[in-house]
Amino acid sequence: MTFRTIIEPFRIKVVEPIRLTTQAEREAILRDAYYNLFLVRAEDVIIDLLTDSGTSAMSSEQWAGVMRGDESYAGSRSYYFFEAVVREIFGFRHVIPVHQGRAAERILFSLVCKPGCVIPNNTHFDTTRANIEYLGGHAVDLPCPELRDTATPHPFKGNMDTDALERLIAEVGAENIPLVMMTLTNNSGGGQPASMANIRAVSQICRKHGIPFYIDACRFAENAYFIKQREPGYADKTPLEIAREMFSYADGCTMSAKKDGLANIGGFLCTNDDALAQQERELLILTEGFPTYGGLAGRDLEAMAIGLREVLDEHYLQYRIRSTSYLGEHLAREGVPIVQPPGGHAIYIDAGRMLPHIPPLQYPGQSVVVELYRLGGVRSCEIGSVMFAQRDPETGAEQPAPHELVRLAIPRRVYTQSHVDYVVEVVLEVYRRREQLRGYRITWQTPFLRHFSCHFEPV
Ligand code: F0G
Repeated sequence: MTFRTIIEPFRIKVVEPIRLTTQAEREAILRDAYYNLFLVRAEDVIIDLLTDSGTSAMSSEQWAGVMRGDESYAGSRSYYFFEAVVREIFGFRHVIPVHQGRAAERILFSLVCKPGCVIPNNTHFDTTRANIEYLGGHAVDLPCPELRDTATPHPFKGNMDTDALERLIAEVGAENIPLVMMTLTNNSGGGQPASMANIRAVSQICRKHGIPFYIDACRFAENAYFIKQREPGYADKTPLEIAREMFSYADGCTMSAKKDGLANIGGFLCTNDDALAQQERELLILTEGFPTYGGLAGRDLEAMAIGLREVLDEHYLQYRIRSTSYLGEHLAREGVPIVQPPGGHAIYIDAGRMLPHIPPLQYPGQSVVVELYRLGGVRSCEIGSVMFAQRDPETGAEQPAPHELVRLAIPRRVYTQSHVDYVVEVVLEVYRRREQLRGYRITWQTPFLRHFSCHFEPV
């Protein structure tokens, strides 16, 4: 006998109280924070969906690992345990710990990225793009065409456009492409997975041209579970077997263990290239720490290693993917436009489609973000023109981003079904009031990454 209800496959042992604020309090908090949710204190938030990064709840085993952590400077037992677990799942020869994903990106790209080089990806995450551009490289996005239409579902919208990859290689020359990367799942593209067939095809193109192939593995377990559910031939394989096959096609990876490592900090860089690994370790010592701790404490390595095993548990993944799609389905059913299908770690509301009366440069996404907080204390994140508008190089005029999205990212193992039901209610109330929502203007901003600190006022 099996039952329909998919339960959270864990019990709660430690609780963290949520401070419940009133709408009047939140209105004052919003004014004081210049309507920028990054400037609001976490204790003033009821449900925090700003990010799924570093916000996971650790298991009793992980906390036990924290106590076991070996804090030796060199040769820590915790490092060898961590290295063995990463090798068991990812299969790469060299495992280099770092404090988080962008440190892996910085070390890798500082060594391979030369000015003028081109690095393709299905869609670069912001820090990946920024690290490449900082070194004078060009970060090129080659998402599959299905990704452009947010309203129509497709099982593998995280795929790379392999024809576009072939064309790009022919155009710029393999010698100018130090590596090809795939981000699994595609975070900036709505948390969408890539299929095994697509990963294999990209790998074959890279091998044919002698270009190394890397995976940005932040959400590899969620991607593996989508393959299990959606790709013929994988239903009977375990998430671990699927993950191993995914990585068998690659020459290395970067990883932020703050996502599918179920840890609050940590990451790593892997490669099969002995000479490159040597150079990476030298840079690591220079800026992060000795190669057996890489800017982390021994206890962090334990937490990551245990988290990497737990994240591949099939019941955990079933609950994880189902609770995200539950949120998406309940919103879509009432007409809220979301990126379809629901992603693995987040639901993306299409604020451009929801608020057609607010022009892109009055930031419809920000209007939704503010209203979700004002009405329900829910913190979300604008992923639209506040974050990604570009300046016209000649006129300096602001050019809107391609989509005006609001991301509801779900921390792992943190919220229960009733929290999700509460979020559904808040979003639906904002949706009912959509015609009353107004835009925002920016009154103060920094030249780079303005979304973290800029000030807004209602139009
Ligand atoms: N790659 C992807 C796909 C990511 O989503 C992130 C972080 C990184 C790399 C960088 O890792 O934060 O450990 O340095 N994404 C977070 C987010 C910040 O909210 O999506 P990091």
